[in-house]
Amino acid sequence: MPLILGIDTSCDDTGIGLVRDGEVLANVVASQAALHENFGGVVPETASREHLSVIDGVLKRALAQAGVGLIDLEGVAATFGPGLVGALLVGLNFGRSLAWGLDLPFIPVHHLEGHIAAAAAGGSVEPPFICLVASGGHTSLFDVPSWGEYTELGRTRDDAAGEAFDKTARLLGLPYPGGPELARLAARGNDRAHPFTPPMQRQEGFDFSFSGLKTAVATLLERQPGADLADVAASFQRTVVESLVSTALRAANVSGRNTLVVAGGVAANELLRSELAASGLRVHLPPPSLATDNGAMIALAAEARLERGPVAPGWEVDAQPYLPLASPPN
Ligand code: KG4
Ligand code: ZN
Repeated sequence: MPLILGIDTSCDDTGIGLVRDGEVLANVVASQAALHENFGGVVPETASREHLSVIDGVLKRALAQAGVGLIDLEGVAATFGPGLVGALLVGLNFGRSLAWGLDLPFIPVHHLEGHIAAAAAGGSVEPPFICLVASGGHTSLFDVPSWGEYTELGRTRDDAAGEAFDKTARLLGLPYPGGPELARLAARGNDRAHPFTPPMQRQEGFDFSFSGLKTAVATLLERQPGADLADVAASFQRTVVESLVSTALRAANVSGRNTLVVAGGVAANELLRSELAASGLRVHLPPPSLATDNGAMIALAAEARLERGPVAPGWEVDAQPYLPLASPPN
């Protein structure tokens, strides 16, 4: 299989990776977290400008890491949605120009297809499987009956799981991005101290909802200003993880699948990892460098599509801020 370059600039990370035969040869991510930290979240205009100023340096580092030159590339892929439109445009047009200049195929990739491809990478997982995508921008469950076929079984009705971690971390006075910080604080708290109501408990479907939980934390902190913050963090984390795990397990049971693939930044959460390990399902979790936003996942998804057959050229594709994951044409 050819050497594919993948680019992701959908949010606040400039990611470029190189992949050949399912093997990740390079995966360079320039994080903007420090830039956005003071604002408690991603500032879209700042994100686009920063992508523009660092993307050529990230490309050079990725080529050096893989020990290849531009001349060795055989395809270029970039995320075209969903994401912040100004941020997406940077990677999409950078990739498209690179492909045009080098006379290579250009493959636009859906961000979530990238997360799923990265989570399933390594060769040991085969469809059918259920995929839980839990990141700062998305929380969805997909049934993947075969490579390239995606049926969304459920999604969050409000905040994504990572977004809930980030917003709650902010309430607890922790810096952005708050997910890993909150998890660290939770490690020394009592997770039974505050019995928050588990969200979406009585539904028959597979949707999620996390904004009520964040509001419950805000109310608790108002009413009990002296509450031990580690206890609050631990109780919040346990409620989110139990919601993710129980809904994913139910989806797997109802769909008759015994493999669960977990994608997105929240897959780095230790409690989620240990609860899933004890779930009885065959669980496939990506290493953290492939779980959070990165360019290699986009190259992996593009390579899988090229393996399945010819891919229509992506010269005309626009950046799409809102884009459901549908099965691509191949
Ligand atoms: O997939 P990702 O890198 O970017 C998006 O597409 O959003 O996910 C980032 C999200 C952030 O909300 C971050 O707080 C969360 O993943 N995250 C975590 C952990 N590590 C990252 N959430 C909980 N526990 C963690 N250990
Ligand atoms: Zn993502």
